[in-house]
Amino acid sequence: MTAVRTPAVFITGTDTGAGKTRISCALLLAAQRRSLRAVGMKPVASGSTWQAGALRNEDADLIHAHSSPPVPARALINPYTFEEPIAPQLAARHAGVEIELGRMQTCFQALADEASLVIVEGVGGWAVPFSDTMMQMHLVRALDVPVIMVVGIRLGCINHALLSARAIAADGCRLLGWIANRIDPETACSDEVIASIAGQLGVPLLAEVPHGLSVDRMAAIVDPALDPVLAGAVAGSS
Ligand SMILES: Nc1ncnc2c1ncn2[C@@H]1O[C@H](COP(=O)(O)OP(=O)(O)OP(=O)(O)O)[C@@H](O)[C@H]1O
Ligand SMILES: [Mg+2]
Repeated sequence: MTAVRTPAVFITGTDTGAGKTRISCALLLAAQRRSLRAVGMKPVASGSTWQAGALRNEDADLIHAHSSPPVPARALINPYTFEEPIAPQLAARHAGVEIELGRMQTCFQALADEASLVIVEGVGGWAVPFSDTMMQMHLVRALDVPVIMVVGIRLGCINHALLSARAIAADGCRLLGWIANRIDPETACSDEVIASIAGQLGVPLLAEVPHGLSVDRMAAIVDPALDPVLAGAVAGSS
């Protein structure tokens, strides 16, 4: 028999600030416009503030706010929230917390069980350590989800995009495609930059997001990126 899993995708970026959160939220909105029950996840977040006795992270709040109602518990959406706005491995160490793969898998499965699509936002870029022995890619492999890379279009992004795509492949993960996000309107020759990356990457350019769009307007533009995610829902035999 063929097992059908809840479709899911991991959103990585060329770097911190590439636009992962905005694009994850736009994908959540786009999916809801397709009548899907879409929920987001931010497994690890650093840089948070105390509110009403709990640590709250802005990315996790945005993902929470753009997920389909009834929105899952924050503890499932964002199992690891650290106060310091630093690399997760350091933030976890300073907080005396060990980031555990099993806990993130359990939260992901609980979200997937109640949803028709899960969008998982990574932290920073691709090569992010969670501990001395665990990298972010171990989570992606454990969740067995494909990857979409958000390329923040700015000086240096060709190098970041090509290196990240190589690393994703070398880590045994599947890159479905990439999204060009025009985060910096001052980027010189941005059309040529996007064309250069498109010519080198060998995976589809799924969407090109103009500068300055609201998440609401981004949703229509990133909608085609849902197609390869939904097409990959058949997981194999059981
Ligand atoms: N297309 C765009 N046009 C203008 N501003 C944008 C665009 N995309 C993202 N931004 C802005 O860039 C900043 C970084 O975006 P975002 O938080 O989505 O990045 P990120 O990759 O999730 O960052 P982090 O590594 O902190 O998780 C935000 O202030 C966001 O509003
Ligand atoms: Mg983010």
